[in-house]
Amino acid sequence: MFRPDLLRNKRVLISGGGTGLGKGMSARFLDLGATVYICGRREEVLKETAAELSAKGAIHAFPCDVRSLDAVENMMEKIWSEGPLDILVNNAAGNFIARTEDLSPRAFESVIGIVLMGTLHCTLACGRRWLKSGHHGTVLSISATYAPVGSAYVVPSAISKAGVEALTRSLAVEWGNRGIRMNAIAPGPIPTQGAFSRVLPRPELETVALDRNPLHRFGTVEELANLAAFLVSDGSGYINGEVIRMDGGEFLQGAGEFSNLGRILKDEDWQALKPRKQPS
Ligand code: HXC
Ligand code: NAP
Repeated sequence: MFRPDLLRNKRVLISGGGTGLGKGMSARFLDLGATVYICGRREEVLKETAAELSAKGAIHAFPCDVRSLDAVENMMEKIWSEGPLDILVNNAAGNFIARTEDLSPRAFESVIGIVLMGTLHCTLACGRRWLKSGHHGTVLSISATYAPVGSAYVVPSAISKAGVEALTRSLAVEWGNRGIRMNAIAPGPIPTQGAFSRVLPRPELETVALDRNPLHRFGTVEELANLAAFLVSDGSGYINGEVIRMDGGEFLQGAGEFSNLGRILKDEDWQALKPRKQPS
C-alpha cells in the first residue's frame, strides 16, 4: 500500500507500543523505515515486543508511566539525547466498563490520568522541544468513536477522549503555523486482548458489537496501522486538526433513525409496503 521508505529517517514514539494497536503500528512503521521508540509501564512486555520486532529495524523500549510528568520528561531527555523525535503517537490508554455510580475517585483518576493527562504530558513534552528548536513534528492520538457524543458505562474514558480530541483541534491551530500537525483516529472495535478483555468481556457483548456494524466485522490492527502510517507521513501534510473515524460505519448506523429497519423488515415486508397500482 505504501512505498517501503515512506517513514525513512523518521523517529517515532508510540506510547503503549508494547501491545495491541500500538504494537501493530510499531511493526508497520518499522516496515516503512522508521526508528521506533515504545513506552509503557511493564518493562517485560516492552522488551518482548522490541525483541520480536527488532528484525524489522531499530526499535527501543522505555519503561515509562505517562501519568507522571517527571517520568515523561526523563524519557524525552533520553530520546532527544540521540536526536529529536519527528512523530508522537498517543496510544496508551486505560478503560473498563462499569456503572458510573459504582466508580471510586481513584477509578476516575486512573483512566483520566492515563488517557487525558498522559496524552497532555507527552504532547507538551514533544511540542515544547519542537517549538524551541523549530523542528517540525506531528502528533497522532488514538481516540474512540464515542468521544464527541459520550457513552454510557465508559464515562472516565469518554470524558478523557473528548479532552484528547479538544486538545488535538486546539493545538492544530495554535501550533500549526510553527510546523506541528495534530490529528487523531477514532477506531471502532478492533480485537486486542487489552481492549476486549475490559470493554467486551463476554461473548454476547461481542455479538451485539458485530450486529451494530454495517460491515458485520471488527476492524483489524493492519487497517489501523495503515491509516496511522498515512496520517503521520509527510504525504498527508495538509491534514491538520482532524479526527478520522475508522469503524466500518458503526457510528452512523447508531445515529440513523431508520438504520435498524434492514434487520426487522424482510423482503416480503418491503414488497407489501410498495404502493399498489390502482386498477384503471
Ligand atoms: C470498577 C474499577 C474497575 C472496574 C478498576 N477499577 N477496574 N472499578 N470497575 N472494572 C478501579 C479500582 O478498584 C481502583 O479504585 C482504580 O480503578 C484503579 O485500579 P487499579 O487496578 O489500581 O489501577 P491501575 O493498575 O493503574 O490500572 C488502570 C486500569 C487498568 C485502567 C484500571 O484497566 C489498566 O491498566 N488498563 C490499561 C490497558 C487498557 O485499559 N486497555 C484498554 C483500552 S481500550 P479503588 O478506589 O478501588 O482503589 C479503549 C477503547 C475501547 O480504551 C473501545 C472499544 C470500542
Ligand atoms: P491495549 O493493548 O491495552 O493498549 C494499551 C497500552 O497502553 C498498553 O500497552 C499499556 O501498557 C499502555 N499503558 C496503559 N497505561 C499506561 C501508562 N500509565 N503509561 C504508559 N503506558 C500505559 O489496548 P489497545 O486496544 O491496543 O488500545 C490502544 C489504543 O486504542 C487506546 O488508546 C484505546 O483507547 C484505543 N482504542 C482501541 C479500540 C479497540 O477496539 N482495540 C477501539 C477504540 C480505541 P502497560 O499496561 O504496560 O502500561
